[in-house]
Amino acid sequence: MTKAIVAGMAFLLAGISAQGATTDVELEAMKPNLRDFPSLQRGMTLYVNYCLGCHSLKFQRYERTADDLGIPHDVALGNLVFPGRARPAGMDGAAIGDLMQTAMPLERAKAWFGKPPPDLTMVDRVRGTAWIYNMLKGFYVDPTRPFGVNNRVFENIGMPHVLAGLQGVQRRVEMRPKSLDLLDGLDTLVRKRADGGYAKMATAADDSPATEDRLIRQPLVKYEVDPGTGSMSAAEFDQAAYDIANFLHYVGDPGRLERRQMGVWVLVFLAGLFVLATLLNREYHKDLHER
Ligand code: HEC
Repeated sequence: MTKAIVAGMAFLLAGISAQGATTDVELEAMKPNLRDFPSLQRGMTLYVNYCLGCHSLKFQRYERTADDLGIPHDVALGNLVFPGRARPAGMDGAAIGDLMQTAMPLERAKAWFGKPPPDLTMVDRVRGTAWIYNMLKGFYVDPTRPFGVNNRVFENIGMPHVLAGLQGVQRRVEMRPKSLDLLDGLDTLVRKRADGGYAKMATAADDSPATEDRLIRQPLVKYEVDPGTGSMSAAEFDQAAYDIANFLHYVGDPGRLERRQMGVWVLVFLAGLFVLATLLNREYHKDLHER
């Protein structure tokens, strides 16, 4: 019986962990930071300028977003809420209380892109923040695709590289090994990875002690930006991609910040309650001993 329960739990856990894996491609680590307000503010600015034209955030209001991220209403209205964009076509003006909708007509978007750009309110929860970060950095030149670009993380994506002006033209450079001995010797196993690169599998012949089944990753594909084609340096663009992904992480669950603060108060309350309960307990015991 115990065995059956353990097996059942292992099965469930395996299901949970498999769910998170949406891609085989190795992702560069990225940790969102909801305390980094400047990053979230830059992320919102970039989002409104480069993404909202196609992707709505239909569960998100400008007002709440501005409040959460510490942006004064007049600054948000003057710089982030574009007239005609926040409201469906035909309605004039835009108010701070509006939902962050796109003005793009759905039917035409379908014709332009094959499928309409999805709403991104929940994308962080479905794909993960690191996935978004890597995807934004992952566009590379591919003349066989309709927009001339493909994506390292999202193969055959139907979205143009809207940040190309910032990042520049990125190319995928493949370095196929001419022969196995390029990868040090005959007792080395090589396997092809999902992203087209090769990984060297460590063998017992390696000197380092912990090599048994460790994989030594040897990417033979690299991505290079043509110098001078983007307005940002590599580090600046990394930061921009980080800021957008960080902002989408906030959007995926705007209550997160509040909950954390509330959690602290709940703990303070419980600590207070513990003191009172201990004192009461002592009083009761006093009575018991007196009898
Ligand atoms: C010109 C329109 C357009 C713009 C601008 C645009 N996208 Fe997209 N995006 C699309 C389309 C179309 C898709 C669907 C692609 C597909 O499924 O093949 C997409 C897909 C995505 C996805 C994947 C959604 C999913 O889970 O399948 C993400 C994430 C995304 N876009 C983020 C962004 C971000 C961030 C920006 C701003 C930097 C942006 N997009 C700007 C058109 C656009």
